[in-house]
Amino acid sequence: MQVLIVGGLGGQIGAASKIAMARGASVQLAESVTTALNILRAGKRIDLVMADITLDVGALITALSRERISVPVVACGVGNDINGAVNAIKAGAQEYIPLPPEADLIAAIFEAVTEESHALIHRDPRMTETLRLAEQVSRSTASILITGESGTGKEILCRFIHRKSNRADKPFVAVNCAAIPENLLESELFGHEKGAFTGAQARRIGKFEEADGGTLLLDEISEMDVRLQAKLLRVIQEREIDRLGGSKPVKVDVRILATSNRDLEAYVQSGNFREDLYFRLNVVNLDIPALRERPGDIPVLAEFFVRKYSEANDMPIRPISPLAIERLVHHYWRGNVRELENTMHRAVLIAGPDEIGPEAIMLSGTAPQPAPQAPPPQQQGYGASGPDPRDIARNNVAASAYNPAYVNQAYRSSGAATGGYDTSGNGTYGAPPRQPAPAPQDPYTENARAAPASAPTDIADDRADQGVISENGSITAALVGRTVADVERELIIDTLKHCFGNRTHAANILGISIRTLRNKLRQYNDEGVSVPLPGNG
Ligand SMILES: Nc1ncnc2c1ncn2[C@@H]1O[C@H](COP(=O)(O)OP(=O)(O)OP(=O)(O)O)[C@@H](O)[C@H]1O
Ligand SMILES: [Mg+2]
Repeated sequence: MQVLIVGGLGGQIGAASKIAMARGASVQLAESVTTALNILRAGKRIDLVMADITLDVGALITALSRERISVPVVACGVGNDINGAVNAIKAGAQEYIPLPPEADLIAAIFEAVTEESHALIHRDPRMTETLRLAEQVSRSTASILITGESGTGKEILCRFIHRKSNRADKPFVAVNCAAIPENLLESELFGHEKGAFTGAQARRIGKFEEADGGTLLLDEISEMDVRLQAKLLRVIQEREIDRLGGSKPVKVDVRILATSNRDLEAYVQSGNFREDLYFRLNVVNLDIPALRERPGDIPVLAEFFVRKYSEANDMPIRPISPLAIERLVHHYWRGNVRELENTMHRAVLIAGPDEIGPEAIMLSGTAPQPAPQAPPPQQQGYGASGPDPRDIARNNVAASAYNPAYVNQAYRSSGAATGGYDTSGNGTYGAPPRQPAPAPQDPYTENARAAPASAPTDIADDRADQGVISENGSITAALVGRTVADVERELIIDTLKHCFGNRTHAANILGISIRTLRNKLRQYNDEGVSVPLPGNG
């Protein structure tokens, strides 16, 4: 991970750099916003910018957005400068870090920005076979399409392929096509020349050039718009890129990996994905099985995460009891490895001193069931699949209770509800078109319920808890007669307003991934609904 520190951080550069380096990050320093912008324009890989609030953080963020450079910025200020913090967040900073910096807070932010651990743990024969195939094809230059449900480990497999390839000592550059707004993605990939568009004050090197000699991961490729798909196809065919506003093409030598948790073939059929590009990318397809289809991986992954989070939280490493393992192995794992990771993180924090027992394994959701013939009345509206505000509140309380480190200070001091980074295990289910196959009800799940397989909403389908709703209908009673999509949209927009437009906070509070939130907002925009601007109220 590469961190760019901008400004003096109130004399705390040394402390902040030390903490960052102890977490394996490399640190670059820029004394001013101008120097920082020059570094970012040069296409040096920067994963996170930490900017001193005594500098003009707003100007930095505006310049980044004007120049179509997409990088998370966190603001840092001495003590609890609430005004400075609120201003920075309003300007679009994703978080506020009070100085002197705390190691735990920095670690949590790093973790939220990039999922740093790249070890690929496995034991189940199905996964072993997938990895054998991956290793076999890694040394070729062929493009590979990696598919699998959300949270199965597509990105981690891409890093594995890069490590095993003969490009391992060259850069591995990942671009999330879903997380980067459409108008920025082209610049992000291909770079631009000075004057290419209003705001392009200097040449900017894109990810293709940054990855030269190495591997470029195009994550969530299905989200790339069709016009950009045409440009990408040309790059793959010609092995050269055109910077925006550039007069001559630039040769690049890049191996492309692409991931998708959607059914790309269906996308091709519906005209949303170019068929020729699909064939170009899909020279080899590695499909990662869902976690429930490789139960042999569950105990080893659980132990790995217990070790990881015990170390991160300075807690003793405790064994997982056989009963707890049994609960884990029987769960349906809609959120796959990511859900297991979050579950074990929570277990590490709440388990007793001697072992991680079944009581520390808090599971939510259950296997999708076939749609009932005639659903009982309670299953309509939220009961079936929509977000229950009380469940959301419950999740947020849980998130902030077990991860106090990452609560945004400015946000906390404004008296608003707090949310941790996305450890809910629900965060990335986002519209999985690869519907998990119906499976038997998980007897170990607390929120056992029956939900139709074709849930109309994609966010909170694991949260609906029929029991909770029917025991006290006061909140939901007022909503009867409205559609789930309608209420969901209102909840999302209100939460966003509450967070001054800050996407990261809103996603945390809603218990969904930032990507799911962005997709929803894009959809609302398309539908003509007014969506709060990033960083504004
Ligand atoms: N085999 C594994 N060993 C260790 N950690 C894993 C493994 N598989 C997944 N993880 C962890 O689970 C989380 C999700 O993995 P990853 O981001 O690679 O999934 P993904 O399929 O790309 O998800 P999404 O579709 O939501 O982008 C990460 O924190 C990753 O480190
Ligand atoms: Mg991914």
